[in-house]
Amino acid sequence: MTSKEIRQKFLDFFKKKGHKVVPSSSLIPEDPTVLLTSAGMQQFSKYLLGEEKPPYMRATSVQKCFRTSDIDLVGDRDHLTFFEMLGNWSFGDYFKKEAFELAWEFLTKEMRMDPKRLWITVFKGEQAIPQDEEAIKLWQEIGIPREKISEFGMEDNFWGPVGETGPCGPTSEVHYDLTGKPCSKGKNCKPNCECGRFTEIWNLVLMQYNKNEKGEYEPLPAKNIDTGMGLERMACALQEKGSVFETDLFLPLMQKLASFCPPGLKNNIRPLRIVADHLRGTVFLISDGVVPGREERNYILRRVLRRAVRYGRLLGIEKPDFFEELAKVVIENHGDVYPDLEKNRDKILTVIHDEVEKFTKALNRGLKLFEEVAKKVISEKLKVIPGQDVFHLYDTYGFPPEDTEELAKEKGLEIDKKGFKEAFKKHKEISRAGVEKKFGGVGRWGRKVARQHTATHLLHQALRQILGDHVKQMGSDLTPERLRFDFSHPKAMTKEEIKKVEDLVNQKIKEDLPVTMVEISYEEAIKSGALAFFKEKYPKIVKVYSVGDFSKEICAGPHVKHTGELGHFKIVKEQSSGAGVRRIKAVLE
Ligand code: SER
Repeated sequence: MTSKEIRQKFLDFFKKKGHKVVPSSSLIPEDPTVLLTSAGMQQFSKYLLGEEKPPYMRATSVQKCFRTSDIDLVGDRDHLTFFEMLGNWSFGDYFKKEAFELAWEFLTKEMRMDPKRLWITVFKGEQAIPQDEEAIKLWQEIGIPREKISEFGMEDNFWGPVGETGPCGPTSEVHYDLTGKPCSKGKNCKPNCECGRFTEIWNLVLMQYNKNEKGEYEPLPAKNIDTGMGLERMACALQEKGSVFETDLFLPLMQKLASFCPPGLKNNIRPLRIVADHLRGTVFLISDGVVPGREERNYILRRVLRRAVRYGRLLGIEKPDFFEELAKVVIENHGDVYPDLEKNRDKILTVIHDEVEKFTKALNRGLKLFEEVAKKVISEKLKVIPGQDVFHLYDTYGFPPEDTEELAKEKGLEIDKKGFKEAFKKHKEISRAGVEKKFGGVGRWGRKVARQHTATHLLHQALRQILGDHVKQMGSDLTPERLRFDFSHPKAMTKEEIKKVEDLVNQKIKEDLPVTMVEISYEEAIKSGALAFFKEKYPKIVKVYSVGDFSKEICAGPHVKHTGELGHFKIVKEQSSGAGVRRIKAVLE
Protein backbone atom coordinates (compact mmCIF):
# COMPACT_ATOMS: atom_id res chain seq x y z
CA MET A 1 0.00 0.00 0.00
CA THR A 2 1.43 3.41 -0.91
CA SER A 3 1.84 6.09 1.74
CA LYS A 4 -0.68 8.17 -0.15
CA GLU A 5 -3.24 5.41 0.16
CA ILE A 6 -2.54 5.03 3.88
CA ARG A 7 -3.14 8.74 4.49
CA GLN A 8 -6.33 8.74 2.46
CA LYS A 9 -7.71 5.54 3.96
CA PHE A 10 -7.05 6.85 7.44
CA LEU A 11 -8.89 10.11 6.87
CA ASP A 12 -11.74 8.39 5.00
CA PHE A 13 -12.16 5.81 7.76
CA PHE A 14 -12.43 8.37 10.53
CA LYS A 15 -14.60 10.65 8.42
CA LYS A 16 -16.99 7.75 7.96
CA LYS A 17 -16.97 7.40 11.75
CA GLY A 18 -18.16 10.97 12.24
CA HIS A 19 -14.81 12.79 12.52
CA LYS A 20 -14.18 16.21 11.00
CA VAL A 21 -11.16 16.13 8.69
CA VAL A 22 -8.90 18.99 9.83
CA PRO A 23 -5.85 20.08 7.79
CA SER A 24 -2.35 19.84 9.27
CA SER A 25 -1.36 22.97 11.14
CA SER A 26 1.97 24.66 10.43
CA LEU A 27 5.23 23.42 11.96
CA ILE A 28 5.32 26.84 13.61
CA PRO A 29 2.74 26.45 16.36
CA GLU A 30 0.17 29.06 17.32
CA ASP A 31 1.40 28.94 20.91
CA PRO A 32 4.59 31.06 20.93
CA THR A 33 5.88 29.30 24.02
CA VAL A 34 6.34 26.09 22.02
CA LEU A 35 9.10 26.11 19.41
CA LEU A 36 7.76 23.62 16.90
CA THR A 37 4.74 21.44 16.29
CA SER A 38 5.67 18.02 17.58
CA ALA A 39 2.26 16.39 17.93
CA GLY A 40 -1.10 16.42 16.19
CA MET A 41 -2.89 17.45 19.37
CA GLN A 42 -1.24 20.86 19.63
CA GLN A 43 -3.77 22.61 17.43
CA PHE A 44 -6.54 21.11 19.59
CA SER A 45 -5.05 21.95 22.99
CA LYS A 46 -7.69 24.55 23.75
CA TYR A 47 -10.47 22.02 23.22
CA LEU A 48 -8.72 19.33 25.24
CA LEU A 49 -8.26 21.74 28.14
CA GLY A 50 -11.87 22.84 27.92
CA GLU A 51 -10.80 26.45 27.32
CA GLU A 52 -12.86 26.71 24.17
CA LYS A 53 -15.89 24.82 23.02
CA PRO A 54 -14.86 22.66 20.05
CA PRO A 55 -16.81 23.22 16.83
CA TYR A 56 -16.85 19.43 16.41
CA MET A 57 -16.69 16.57 18.91
CA ARG A 58 -14.48 14.32 16.77
CA ALA A 59 -11.56 15.25 14.54
CA THR A 60 -8.95 13.56 12.41
CA SER A 61 -5.80 14.87 10.72
CA VAL A 62 -2.48 14.10 9.14
CA GLN A 63 -0.10 16.42 10.97
CA LYS A 64 3.40 17.53 10.01
CA CYS A 65 5.56 17.06 13.12
CA PHE A 66 9.14 17.88 14.01
CA ARG A 67 10.96 16.50 17.05
CA THR A 68 14.56 16.87 18.03
CA SER A 69 14.19 14.58 21.04
CA ASP A 70 15.23 11.55 18.99
CA ILE A 71 17.84 13.23 16.80
CA ASP A 72 20.63 10.99 18.10
CA LEU A 73 18.66 7.91 17.10
CA VAL A 74 18.12 9.04 13.51
CA GLY A 75 19.96 6.60 11.33
CA ASP A 76 18.37 3.49 12.83
CA ARG A 77 15.37 1.74 11.36
CA ASP A 78 12.56 4.05 12.38
CA HIS A 79 13.50 7.29 14.13
CA LEU A 80 13.07 10.63 12.40
CA THR A 81 13.07 14.32 13.15
CA PHE A 82 10.33 15.24 10.69
CA PHE A 83 7.43 12.85 10.31
CA GLU A 84 3.74 12.78 9.56
CA MET A 85 1.33 11.79 12.27
CA LEU A 86 -2.07 10.33 11.57
CA GLY A 87 -4.46 11.08 14.41
CA ASN A 88 -8.02 10.96 15.62
CA TRP A 89 -9.53 12.92 18.50
CA SER A 90 -12.56 12.84 20.69
CA PHE A 91 -13.26 15.98 22.67
CA GLY A 92 -15.31 14.62 25.55
CA ASP A 93 -17.23 12.38 23.16
CA TYR A 94 -16.17 8.70 22.95
CA PHE A 95 -13.48 7.36 25.24
CA LYS A 96 -11.41 4.24 25.80
CA LYS A 97 -13.69 1.49 24.54
CA GLU A 98 -14.57 3.12 21.24
CA ALA A 99 -11.04 4.42 20.71
CA PHE A 100 -9.64 0.90 21.02
CA GLU A 101 -12.35 -0.56 18.79
CA LEU A 102 -11.81 2.07 16.12
CA ALA A 103 -8.05 1.52 16.16
CA TRP A 104 -8.44 -2.23 15.93
CA GLU A 105 -10.96 -2.02 13.12
CA PHE A 106 -8.76 0.34 11.14
CA LEU A 107 -5.65 -1.80 11.50
CA THR A 108 -7.18 -5.20 10.90
CA LYS A 109 -10.00 -4.37 8.46
CA GLU A 110 -8.90 -1.29 6.53
CA MET A 111 -5.16 -1.97 6.58
CA ARG A 112 -5.68 -5.74 6.70
CA MET A 113 -2.87 -6.20 9.15
CA ASP A 114 -2.48 -9.64 10.62
CA PRO A 115 -3.86 -9.49 14.21
CA LYS A 116 -1.15 -11.95 15.22
CA ARG A 117 1.42 -9.26 14.49
CA LEU A 118 -0.21 -6.66 16.74
CA TRP A 119 0.76 -6.34 20.39
CA ILE A 120 -0.62 -4.00 23.01
CA THR A 121 0.82 -2.04 25.92
CA VAL A 122 -1.13 -0.32 28.70
CA PHE A 123 -0.33 1.85 31.74
CA LYS A 124 0.68 -0.11 34.82
CA GLY A 125 0.09 2.75 37.28
CA GLU A 126 2.71 5.05 38.73
CA GLN A 127 2.86 8.19 40.86
CA ALA A 128 -0.68 9.25 41.73
CA ILE A 129 -2.16 7.71 38.60
CA PRO A 130 -3.74 4.27 38.90
CA GLN A 131 -3.15 1.16 36.82
CA ASP A 132 -5.38 0.92 33.76
CA GLU A 133 -7.09 -2.39 34.43
CA GLU A 134 -10.03 -1.37 32.30
CA ALA A 135 -7.76 -1.10 29.27
CA ILE A 136 -6.59 -4.68 29.72
CA LYS A 137 -10.19 -5.86 29.98
CA LEU A 138 -11.28 -3.91 26.90
CA TRP A 139 -8.45 -5.25 24.75
CA GLN A 140 -9.24 -8.76 25.87
CA GLU A 141 -12.87 -8.21 24.87
CA ILE A 142 -11.64 -7.18 21.45
CA GLY A 143 -9.85 -10.51 21.27
CA ILE A 144 -6.23 -9.87 22.23
CA PRO A 145 -4.79 -12.66 24.36
CA ARG A 146 -3.69 -11.47 27.81
CA GLU A 147 -0.08 -12.52 27.20
CA LYS A 148 0.13 -10.06 24.32
CA ILE A 149 -0.89 -7.15 26.53
CA SER A 150 1.98 -5.79 28.60
CA GLU A 151 2.08 -3.05 31.20
CA PHE A 152 4.59 -0.24 31.55
CA GLY A 153 4.97 2.90 33.66
CA MET A 154 5.23 6.66 33.13
CA GLU A 155 8.27 6.39 30.91
CA ASP A 156 6.55 4.29 28.24
CA ASN A 157 2.81 4.52 28.74
CA PHE A 158 2.09 8.07 29.76
CA TRP A 159 2.04 10.89 27.27
CA GLY A 160 2.50 14.65 27.55
CA PRO A 161 2.30 17.44 28.20
CA VAL A 162 4.09 19.06 25.26
CA GLY A 163 5.70 21.77 27.41
CA GLU A 164 5.83 22.02 31.20
CA THR A 165 2.08 22.13 31.58
CA GLY A 166 -0.96 21.03 29.61
CA PRO A 167 -3.10 18.06 28.66
CA CYS A 168 -1.71 14.57 29.19
CA GLY A 169 -2.73 11.07 30.16
CA PRO A 170 -2.00 7.36 30.30
CA THR A 171 -1.66 5.63 26.98
CA SER A 172 -2.27 2.36 25.31
CA GLU A 173 0.00 1.60 22.38
CA VAL A 174 -0.17 -0.75 19.45
CA HIS A 175 3.14 -2.32 18.46
CA TYR A 176 3.89 -4.19 15.29
CA ASP A 177 5.82 -7.43 15.44
CA LEU A 178 8.31 -7.23 12.57
CA THR A 179 9.87 -10.66 12.86
CA GLY A 180 7.17 -12.79 14.43
CA LYS A 181 9.83 -14.50 16.54
CA PRO A 182 10.97 -13.91 20.12
CA CYS A 183 14.61 -13.23 20.76
CA SER A 184 16.69 -15.12 23.33
CA LYS A 185 14.58 -13.49 26.06
CA GLY A 186 11.76 -15.86 25.11
CA LYS A 187 8.58 -14.91 26.96
CA ASN A 188 10.13 -11.67 28.08
CA CYS A 189 10.51 -10.49 24.52
CA LYS A 190 7.79 -7.83 24.71
CA PRO A 191 7.22 -4.51 22.97
CA ASN A 192 9.95 -2.72 24.92
CA CYS A 193 12.55 -5.37 24.05
CA GLU A 194 15.81 -4.01 22.75
CA CYS A 195 16.14 -6.78 20.17
CA GLY A 196 14.33 -4.70 17.57
CA ARG A 197 11.49 -7.14 17.04
CA PHE A 198 8.78 -4.53 17.67
CA THR A 199 8.03 -1.09 16.33
CA GLU A 200 5.47 1.20 17.96
CA ILE A 201 2.90 2.20 15.39
CA TRP A 202 0.04 3.82 17.25
CA ASN A 203 -0.18 5.75 20.47
CA LEU A 204 -3.69 6.01 21.93
CA VAL A 205 -3.65 8.68 24.61
CA LEU A 206 -6.45 8.60 27.16
CA MET A 207 -6.24 12.28 27.80
CA GLN A 208 -7.80 13.06 31.13
CA TYR A 209 -5.32 15.21 33.06
CA ASN A 210 -3.89 18.70 32.96
CA LYS A 211 -0.41 18.92 34.43
CA ASN A 212 -0.42 22.26 36.24
CA GLU A 213 2.36 24.66 37.23
CA LYS A 214 2.88 22.81 40.49
CA GLY A 215 3.44 19.55 38.63
CA GLU A 216 0.12 18.10 39.79
CA TYR A 217 -2.19 16.12 37.56
CA GLU A 218 -5.63 17.68 37.79
CA PRO A 219 -8.55 16.05 35.97
CA LEU A 220 -9.57 17.73 32.73
CA PRO A 221 -13.18 18.91 32.43
CA ALA A 222 -13.82 16.02 30.03
CA LYS A 223 -12.22 12.73 29.09
CA ASN A 224 -10.67 12.98 25.67
CA ILE A 225 -8.96 10.78 23.14
CA ASP A 226 -5.79 11.82 21.30
CA THR A 227 -4.13 9.31 19.04
CA GLY A 228 -1.01 9.46 16.93
CA MET A 229 0.23 6.99 14.38
CA GLY A 230 3.51 7.44 12.57
CA LEU A 231 2.87 7.37 8.83
CA GLU A 232 6.45 6.37 8.01
CA ARG A 233 6.33 3.40 10.38
CA MET A 234 2.98 2.28 9.05
CA ALA A 235 4.35 2.48 5.53
CA CYS A 236 7.36 0.47 6.66
CA ALA A 237 5.15 -2.27 8.11
CA LEU A 238 2.68 -2.36 5.24
CA GLN A 239 5.29 -2.16 2.50
CA GLU A 240 7.28 -4.82 4.36
CA LYS A 241 10.51 -2.85 4.35
CA GLY A 242 13.49 -3.09 6.65
CA SER A 243 13.40 0.61 7.53
CA VAL A 244 11.35 3.75 6.99
CA PHE A 245 14.06 4.90 4.56
CA GLU A 246 13.12 2.18 2.11
CA THR A 247 9.45 3.16 1.96
CA ASP A 248 8.03 5.27 -0.85
CA LEU A 249 8.29 8.30 1.48
CA PHE A 250 12.07 8.19 1.27
CA LEU A 251 13.04 5.98 -1.64
CA PRO A 252 13.47 8.65 -4.35
CA LEU A 253 15.52 10.76 -1.95
CA MET A 254 17.72 7.85 -0.91
CA GLN A 255 18.30 6.96 -4.55
CA LYS A 256 19.27 10.49 -5.47
CA LEU A 257 21.56 10.68 -2.50
CA ALA A 258 23.27 7.42 -3.39
CA SER A 259 23.72 8.64 -6.96
CA PHE A 260 25.88 11.50 -5.63
CA CYS A 261 28.08 9.23 -3.52
CA PRO A 262 31.34 7.81 -4.82
CA PRO A 263 30.93 4.01 -5.11
CA GLY A 264 32.94 3.23 -1.98
CA LEU A 265 30.65 5.30 0.22
CA LYS A 266 27.23 4.18 -0.99
CA ASN A 267 26.80 1.69 1.84
CA ASN A 268 27.45 4.15 4.58
CA ILE A 269 23.92 3.63 5.88
CA ARG A 270 23.78 5.88 8.93
CA PRO A 271 25.10 9.05 7.28
CA LEU A 272 22.84 8.40 4.28
CA ARG A 273 19.80 8.19 6.50
CA ILE A 274 20.80 11.20 8.58
CA VAL A 275 21.26 13.38 5.52
CA ALA A 276 17.94 12.19 4.09
CA ASP A 277 16.00 12.75 7.29
CA HIS A 278 17.55 16.13 8.05
CA LEU A 279 17.16 17.43 4.55
CA ARG A 280 13.53 16.40 4.35
CA GLY A 281 12.90 18.12 7.69
CA THR A 282 14.75 21.21 6.52
CA VAL A 283 12.56 21.50 3.43
CA PHE A 284 9.36 21.36 5.48
CA LEU A 285 10.64 23.79 8.12
CA ILE A 286 11.66 26.39 5.56
CA SER A 287 8.40 25.99 3.71
CA ASP A 288 6.51 26.78 6.92
CA GLY A 289 8.53 29.95 7.46
CA VAL A 290 11.51 28.96 9.64
CA VAL A 291 14.85 30.46 8.61
CA PRO A 292 18.29 29.37 9.81
CA GLY A 293 19.44 31.53 12.70
CA ARG A 294 20.89 31.75 16.16
CA GLU A 295 17.79 31.50 18.28
CA GLU A 296 15.07 29.07 19.15
CA ARG A 297 13.38 27.38 16.20
CA ASN A 298 15.70 29.08 13.75
CA TYR A 299 18.57 27.53 15.62
CA ILE A 300 16.98 24.10 15.36
CA LEU A 301 16.77 24.46 11.60
CA ARG A 302 20.34 25.66 11.36
CA ARG A 303 21.55 22.83 13.53
CA VAL A 304 19.72 20.18 11.53
CA LEU A 305 20.84 21.53 8.17
CA ARG A 306 24.45 21.90 9.31
CA ARG A 307 24.39 18.39 10.69
CA ALA A 308 23.23 17.20 7.27
CA VAL A 309 26.17 19.03 5.69
CA ARG A 310 28.59 17.47 8.13
CA TYR A 311 27.27 13.97 7.47
CA GLY A 312 27.15 14.74 3.77
CA ARG A 313 30.93 15.05 3.92
CA LEU A 314 31.25 11.49 5.12
CA LEU A 315 29.50 10.56 1.90
CA GLY A 316 31.66 12.77 -0.27
CA ILE A 317 28.80 15.22 -0.81
CA GLU A 318 29.91 18.79 -0.37
CA LYS A 319 28.55 21.09 -3.03
CA PRO A 320 25.58 23.28 -2.09
CA ASP A 321 24.10 22.29 -5.46
CA PHE A 322 23.81 18.70 -4.29
CA PHE A 323 21.73 19.73 -1.32
CA GLU A 324 19.55 21.80 -3.57
CA GLU A 325 19.04 18.81 -5.86
CA LEU A 326 18.06 16.69 -2.87
CA ALA A 327 15.58 19.35 -1.76
CA LYS A 328 14.01 19.24 -5.23
CA VAL A 329 13.41 15.53 -4.82
CA VAL A 330 11.68 16.12 -1.47
CA ILE A 331 9.48 18.79 -3.04
CA GLU A 332 8.56 16.49 -5.89
CA ASN A 333 7.91 13.50 -3.68
CA HIS A 334 5.65 15.36 -1.24
CA GLY A 335 4.37 18.24 -3.35
CA ASP A 336 1.07 16.63 -4.27
CA VAL A 337 0.07 16.20 -0.63
CA TYR A 338 1.69 19.47 0.52
CA PRO A 339 1.22 22.00 -2.31
CA ASP A 340 2.91 24.69 -0.19
CA LEU A 341 6.22 23.01 -0.95
CA GLU A 342 5.78 23.79 -4.64
CA LYS A 343 4.64 27.30 -3.84
CA ASN A 344 7.69 27.92 -1.67
CA ARG A 345 10.09 26.14 -3.97
CA ASP A 346 12.33 29.13 -4.71
CA LYS A 347 12.57 30.15 -1.09
CA ILE A 348 13.38 26.60 0.03
CA LEU A 349 16.12 26.16 -2.56
CA THR A 350 17.69 29.55 -1.97
CA VAL A 351 17.77 29.23 1.81
CA ILE A 352 19.33 25.77 1.61
CA HIS A 353 21.88 26.81 -0.99
CA ASP A 354 22.97 29.89 0.93
CA GLU A 355 23.19 28.22 4.31
CA VAL A 356 25.10 25.23 2.96
CA GLU A 357 27.49 27.50 1.11
CA LYS A 358 28.09 29.61 4.18
CA PHE A 359 28.66 26.66 6.44
CA THR A 360 30.79 24.65 4.02
CA LYS A 361 33.35 27.44 3.94
CA ALA A 362 33.70 27.44 7.70
CA LEU A 363 33.47 23.68 8.02
CA ASN A 364 36.92 22.81 6.70
CA ARG A 365 38.65 25.27 8.95
CA GLY A 366 36.43 24.34 11.89
CA LEU A 367 37.09 20.64 11.49
CA LYS A 368 40.79 21.35 11.30
CA LEU A 369 40.62 23.35 14.49
CA PHE A 370 38.60 20.63 16.18
CA GLU A 371 41.18 18.02 15.22
CA GLU A 372 43.95 20.16 16.67
CA VAL A 373 42.08 20.74 19.92
CA ALA A 374 41.13 17.08 20.23
CA LYS A 375 44.73 16.02 19.58
CA LYS A 376 45.94 18.33 22.29
CA VAL A 377 43.35 17.09 24.78
CA ILE A 378 44.23 13.48 24.03
CA SER A 379 47.99 14.11 24.21
CA GLU A 380 47.48 15.63 27.64
CA LYS A 381 45.59 12.50 28.60
CA LEU A 382 42.47 14.53 29.26
CA LYS A 383 38.93 13.67 28.27
CA VAL A 384 37.16 17.00 27.99
CA ILE A 385 37.22 19.63 25.25
CA PRO A 386 37.41 23.00 27.06
CA GLY A 387 34.30 25.18 26.96
CA GLN A 388 36.26 28.04 25.46
CA ASP A 389 37.17 25.92 22.42
CA VAL A 390 33.61 24.69 22.05
CA PHE A 391 32.55 28.32 22.07
CA HIS A 392 35.22 29.32 19.59
CA LEU A 393 34.04 26.60 17.22
CA TYR A 394 30.49 27.82 17.67
CA ASP A 395 31.13 31.50 17.35
CA THR A 396 33.74 31.59 14.62
CA TYR A 397 32.96 28.46 12.61
CA GLY A 398 29.25 28.07 13.29
CA PHE A 399 29.57 24.63 14.87
CA PRO A 400 26.53 23.96 17.03
CA PRO A 401 27.83 22.73 20.42
CA GLU A 402 25.72 19.59 19.99
CA ASP A 403 27.75 18.82 16.87
CA THR A 404 31.05 19.39 18.62
CA GLU A 405 29.85 17.05 21.32
CA GLU A 406 29.10 14.45 18.69
CA LEU A 407 32.52 14.86 17.10
CA ALA A 408 34.06 14.58 20.54
CA LYS A 409 32.12 11.40 21.29
CA GLU A 410 33.49 9.80 18.16
CA LYS A 411 36.92 10.21 19.74
CA GLY A 412 35.81 9.06 23.18
CA LEU A 413 35.85 12.65 24.51
CA GLU A 414 33.32 14.94 26.13
CA ILE A 415 32.77 18.67 25.99
CA ASP A 416 32.73 21.06 28.93
CA LYS A 417 29.12 22.21 28.67
CA LYS A 418 29.26 24.44 31.72
CA GLY A 419 32.40 26.13 30.40
CA PHE A 420 30.70 26.63 27.05
CA LYS A 421 27.69 28.25 28.67
CA GLU A 422 29.90 30.56 30.69
CA ALA A 423 31.90 31.60 27.62
CA PHE A 424 28.65 32.13 25.76
CA LYS A 425 27.19 34.28 28.52
CA LYS A 426 30.30 36.35 28.84
CA HIS A 427 30.39 36.94 25.13
CA LYS A 428 26.75 37.96 25.10
CA GLU A 429 27.31 40.49 27.84
CA ILE A 430 30.33 41.97 26.12
CA SER A 431 28.61 42.24 22.77
CA ARG A 432 25.47 43.70 24.26
CA ALA A 433 27.49 46.29 26.09
CA GLY A 434 29.19 47.03 22.77
CA VAL A 435 25.90 47.50 20.99
CA GLU A 436 24.59 49.71 23.75
CA LYS A 437 27.66 51.89 23.58
CA LYS A 438 27.62 52.10 19.84
CA PHE A 439 23.98 53.05 19.47
CA GLY A 440 23.54 54.70 22.83
CA GLY A 441 20.54 52.52 23.40
CA VAL A 442 19.53 49.10 24.55
CA GLY A 443 20.34 47.09 21.43
CA ARG A 444 18.04 44.85 19.43
CA TRP A 445 17.59 42.43 22.27
CA GLY A 446 16.82 45.24 24.66
CA ARG A 447 14.38 46.88 22.27
CA LYS A 448 12.36 43.70 22.09
CA VAL A 449 12.22 43.53 25.86
CA ALA A 450 11.30 47.22 26.06
CA ARG A 451 8.35 46.59 23.75
CA GLN A 452 7.22 43.66 25.87
CA HIS A 453 7.50 45.72 29.08
CA THR A 454 5.38 48.54 27.72
CA ALA A 455 2.85 46.08 26.30
CA THR A 456 2.65 44.41 29.72
CA HIS A 457 1.70 47.74 31.31
CA LEU A 458 -0.99 48.29 28.71
CA LEU A 459 -2.29 44.75 29.27
CA HIS A 460 -2.35 45.18 33.05
CA GLN A 461 -4.39 48.37 32.82
CA ALA A 462 -6.68 47.00 30.11
CA LEU A 463 -7.46 43.95 32.27
CA ARG A 464 -8.37 46.23 35.15
CA GLN A 465 -10.68 48.28 32.96
CA ILE A 466 -12.41 45.30 31.41
CA LEU A 467 -12.47 42.83 34.34
CA GLY A 468 -12.31 45.15 37.35
CA ASP A 469 -9.92 46.61 39.90
CA HIS A 470 -9.44 43.27 41.67
CA VAL A 471 -6.95 42.41 38.90
CA LYS A 472 -3.44 42.52 40.31
CA GLN A 473 -0.21 41.47 38.75
CA MET A 474 0.98 38.21 40.28
CA GLY A 475 3.87 37.46 37.97
CA SER A 476 5.40 38.33 34.64
CA ASP A 477 7.94 36.79 32.35
CA LEU A 478 9.29 38.08 29.05
CA THR A 479 11.17 36.42 26.24
CA PRO A 480 12.00 38.08 22.91
CA GLU A 481 9.13 36.04 21.44
CA ARG A 482 6.27 36.54 23.87
CA LEU A 483 5.13 38.02 27.14
CA ARG A 484 3.49 36.15 29.97
CA PHE A 485 1.36 37.82 32.61
CA ASP A 486 -0.18 36.25 35.72
CA PHE A 487 -2.93 38.12 37.52
CA SER A 488 -5.55 37.61 40.17
CA HIS A 489 -8.98 36.84 38.73
CA PRO A 490 -11.37 34.16 39.92
CA LYS A 491 -12.45 32.58 36.64
CA ALA A 492 -11.51 31.95 33.03
CA MET A 493 -11.95 34.96 30.77
CA THR A 494 -14.64 34.70 28.13
CA LYS A 495 -13.82 35.05 24.47
CA GLU A 496 -15.53 38.45 24.48
CA GLU A 497 -13.45 39.66 27.42
CA ILE A 498 -10.24 38.54 25.74
CA LYS A 499 -11.25 40.35 22.57
CA LYS A 500 -12.13 43.52 24.51
CA VAL A 501 -8.78 43.52 26.29
CA GLU A 502 -6.92 42.97 23.03
CA ASP A 503 -8.87 45.74 21.33
CA LEU A 504 -8.23 48.18 24.15
CA VAL A 505 -4.48 47.49 24.11
CA ASN A 506 -4.39 47.88 20.33
CA GLN A 507 -6.36 51.11 20.54
CA LYS A 508 -3.77 52.50 22.98
CA ILE A 509 -1.00 51.39 20.63
CA LYS A 510 -2.72 53.20 17.76
CA GLU A 511 -3.03 56.37 19.84
CA ASP A 512 0.80 56.36 19.94
CA LEU A 513 0.87 57.49 23.57
CA PRO A 514 4.14 58.84 24.97
CA VAL A 515 5.88 56.75 27.67
CA THR A 516 7.42 58.88 30.40
CA MET A 517 9.30 58.13 33.61
CA VAL A 518 9.84 59.83 36.97
CA GLU A 519 11.87 58.68 39.95
CA ILE A 520 10.06 59.24 43.23
CA SER A 521 9.68 57.57 46.62
CA TYR A 522 7.70 54.37 46.82
CA GLU A 523 5.06 55.96 49.10
CA GLU A 524 4.60 58.88 46.75
CA ALA A 525 4.30 56.52 43.82
CA ILE A 526 1.56 54.47 45.47
CA LYS A 527 -0.23 57.63 46.57
CA SER A 528 -0.20 58.93 43.02
CA GLY A 529 -2.04 55.77 41.97
CA ALA A 530 0.84 53.89 40.40
CA LEU A 531 0.29 50.14 40.18
CA ALA A 532 2.83 47.84 41.75
CA PHE A 533 3.69 44.24 41.24
CA PHE A 534 1.79 42.61 44.08
CA LYS A 535 4.50 40.29 45.34
CA GLU A 536 7.57 42.51 44.93
CA LYS A 537 9.62 44.28 47.60
CA TYR A 538 10.56 47.72 46.24
CA PRO A 539 13.49 50.00 47.02
CA LYS A 540 12.84 53.41 48.62
CA ILE A 541 13.11 55.31 45.35
CA VAL A 542 11.34 53.75 42.42
CA LYS A 543 10.83 54.46 38.74
CA VAL A 544 7.25 55.16 37.73
CA TYR A 545 6.44 54.72 34.08
CA SER A 546 3.34 56.40 32.65
CA VAL A 547 1.80 55.54 29.32
CA GLY A 548 -0.12 58.68 28.36
CA ASP A 549 -2.73 58.97 31.07
CA PHE A 550 -3.82 55.39 30.52
CA SER A 551 -1.39 53.56 32.78
CA LYS A 552 0.96 54.36 35.63
CA GLU A 553 3.07 51.64 37.10
CA ILE A 554 6.22 51.10 39.15
CA CYS A 555 8.77 49.30 37.02
CA ALA A 556 12.50 49.13 36.44
CA GLY A 557 12.05 49.27 32.66
CA PRO A 558 13.27 49.43 29.95
CA HIS A 559 10.37 50.82 27.91
CA VAL A 560 9.76 52.19 24.44
CA LYS A 561 9.27 55.94 23.92
CA HIS A 562 5.87 55.72 22.20
CA THR A 563 3.26 52.96 22.13
CA GLY A 564 3.21 53.19 18.34
CA GLU A 565 6.44 51.18 18.37
CA LEU A 566 4.68 48.09 19.65
CA GLY A 567 2.99 46.78 16.52
CA HIS A 568 -0.08 44.58 16.89
CA PHE A 569 -0.89 42.99 20.23
CA LYS A 570 -2.41 39.53 20.32
CA ILE A 571 -3.41 37.26 23.21
CA VAL A 572 -2.54 33.71 22.25
CA LYS A 573 -3.53 31.91 25.42
CA GLU A 574 -5.55 32.44 28.56
CA GLN A 575 -5.33 29.70 31.14
CA SER A 576 -5.31 28.88 34.83
CA SER A 577 -2.12 29.38 36.79
CA GLY A 578 -3.18 28.17 40.21
CA ALA A 579 -6.19 28.95 42.39
CA GLY A 580 -7.63 32.38 41.60
CA VAL A 581 -4.78 33.22 39.25
CA ARG A 582 -5.02 33.42 35.49
CA ARG A 583 -2.20 33.48 32.99
CA ILE A 584 -2.10 35.29 29.67
CA LYS A 585 0.44 34.66 26.98
CA ALA A 586 0.60 37.32 24.32
CA VAL A 587 2.72 38.38 21.39
CA LEU A 588 3.53 41.57 19.53
CA GLU A 589 3.24 40.97 15.83
N1 SER B 1 -0.04 13.11 21.40
C1 SER B 1 0.36 11.74 21.19
C2 SER B 1 1.70 11.64 20.51
O1 SER B 1 2.20 12.62 20.07
C3 SER B 1 -0.69 11.02 20.37
O2 SER B 1 -1.11 11.80 19.32
O3 SER B 1 2.24 10.59 20.44
